[in-house]
Amino acid sequence: MPDLRNISRPVREEMARFEAYFGKTMESEIPLLKIILNYIFRRKGKQMRPLLVFLSAKLNGTITESTFVAATFIELLHTASIVHDDVVDDSRERRGALSINALWNSKIAVLVGDYMLSKGLLIGIQKNSVDMLEIVSEAVQSMSKGELLQLQKARKLNIREEDYFKIISCKTAALIAACTACGARSVTDDLPTIQLMKEFGEQIGMAFQIRDDIFDYESNGLTGKPNGNDIREKKITLPLIYSLEKSSRSERKHILNVVGRKHKSRADIDEVIAFVREYDGIESASRKMNYYRDQALSILDTYPESEVRRSLRDFVYYTVSRDK
Ligand code: IPE
Ligand code: IPE
Ligand code: MG
Ligand code: MG
Repeated sequence: MPDLRNISRPVREEMARFEAYFGKTMESEIPLLKIILNYIFRRKGKQMRPLLVFLSAKLNGTITESTFVAATFIELLHTASIVHDDVVDDSRERRGALSINALWNSKIAVLVGDYMLSKGLLIGIQKNSVDMLEIVSEAVQSMSKGELLQLQKARKLNIREEDYFKIISCKTAALIAACTACGARSVTDDLPTIQLMKEFGEQIGMAFQIRDDIFDYESNGLTGKPNGNDIREKKITLPLIYSLEKSSRSERKHILNVVGRKHKSRADIDEVIAFVREYDGIESASRKMNYYRDQALSILDTYPESEVRRSLRDFVYYTVSRDK
């Protein structure tokens, strides 16, 4: 399996500089904010989004100051979105530690998320990156839509495959598409190129979220997030959708009843996981994930071979094979 350290080799210096850039934006004089931002900054995620911004820029030209701006505000918006997401999903763990809502509370998590979100948008304005700001603002709006659609479907337990793809396209793929589009935009103003790169990111993003949804049915312990949380929150994702399609009417009714329970025991959750395993839900979802992987790879194939293209190809493979 490709690893992120190797993948980032062509942009290693840029990623190091990004680190400092990002750290600066996480400073604050307000004592509580300072403590929380510091807590968040110390537990870094995989930083796949800034990496994707830099690689996409380098694939299409020479990395500029605005590439750094894009990488920084996108990672800020991403971080804001997971702080909010853990409130929405009532999730107590993130990046191997307590989530902000668990350690402080939901009110604080909402406000800190808002702070980071506005900070991200402000950076785009200050540095005069209006085009990129537009791309990213659309993605942020799309993320809210996706989360709302998901909540609505969870309440009614009536999600179909097409709803699922709409949800993940909005809540996850939009921001990943913004990474590749902004990366390209920071080095070129050729619209067809930016559009093609956006499409590339969209395909990666779809595969990325399917992989994430499969994690919820696995227990590798490396994700730093609790497993079974989607089921607890009545989120019916692809492995379960495919399993429900294959099961009998009565089984389907029973499983939906379990998922719909307000308070679920660990045994309830384990029953749903066992059901998905029995019907090969993970394998079916993986097949679809690999379809998106191949779509992304075919876009990459339109570029001439280079070190950066190889890294991006590995990035795509990493997205679907990662264990965290
Ligand atoms: C988590 O994204 C949120 C999703 C869209 C599934 P990541 O898995 O990239 O989170 P970090 O930044 O590495 O923690
Ligand atoms: C991703 O969905 C939501 C965001 C866009 C932040 P999840 O709810 O599955 O993400 P995780 O699993 O909590 O990271
Ligand atoms: Mg979540
Ligand atoms: Mg998840």
